[in-house]
Amino acid sequence: MNLVLMGLPGAGKGTQAEQIVEQYGIPHISTGDMFRAAMKEGTELGLEAKSFMDKGELVPDVVTIGIVRERLIKDDCINGFLLDGFPRTVPQAEALENLLSDLDKKIDYVININVDKSILMDRLTGRRICKDCGSTYHLVFNPPAKEGTCDKCGGELYQRADDNAETVQNRLDVNIKQQEPLLTFYETKGYLRTIDGQQDINKVFADIQQLVGDLR
Ligand code: AP5
Ligand code: ZN
Repeated sequence: MNLVLMGLPGAGKGTQAEQIVEQYGIPHISTGDMFRAAMKEGTELGLEAKSFMDKGELVPDVVTIGIVRERLIKDDCINGFLLDGFPRTVPQAEALENLLSDLDKKIDYVININVDKSILMDRLTGRRICKDCGSTYHLVFNPPAKEGTCDKCGGELYQRADDNAETVQNRLDVNIKQQEPLLTFYETKGYLRTIDGQQDINKVFADIQQLVGDLR
């Protein structure tokens, strides 16, 4: 199954991706995670990405499309993939269509996790992530059993550098502007499926399972 997860920052893409990849055994391809890994390694890509991410701006299309191309041609994508946070602009979506066509693949569904923008600020500023396994929590909506500690591996929880109120506001503004034309692009192609992302985390996942259940 070839899936794309779409949604504004904080809509729950990463949270749902954790469950989807576990259930269906497809690789999770998150451009945000790839940039953060490059930043941690201190590579040239990481330095470039950081200059945009710290301000809540998008990394230029040419850079982002390049890393996705490199990733999608790897062997583990043969039986499917889950793209998370890519594409985010129409040029990225067009580049993805071309790339998949070269690889003789096509998208099954673009799953749009729909959440009202008024609640995204709280979701993002309250988010905490495990330093060791990357699991996502929320101080109020999805707290760990023991404060500051990951339920799954005992790792320490931290706050992402771009989850401060000022950067979040810009991320939301930037992404809201890009989202509309992208939704139209995928609606026209017939791939778009919208899911209510304001339900309980497990209910959102149940809706996704129902949608993708007959693929494979
Ligand atoms: P990226 O890492 O992709 O961040 P994002 O799009 O801003 O999305 P988030 O990861 O913040 O949110 P999410 O939807 O995954 O929410 P989550 O599940 O964690 O991108 C970061 C940056 O990299 C971008 O700003 C840009 O600079 C660059 N970049 C990346 N891709 C790019 C691209 N294609 N082009 C150009 N630049 C790119 O959930 C959020 C919180 O809510 C958590 O605390 C969670 O526990 C909680 N939560 C989740 N679901 C629910 C629910 N149903 N109910 C209550 N709480 C919930
Ligand atoms: Zn952990």
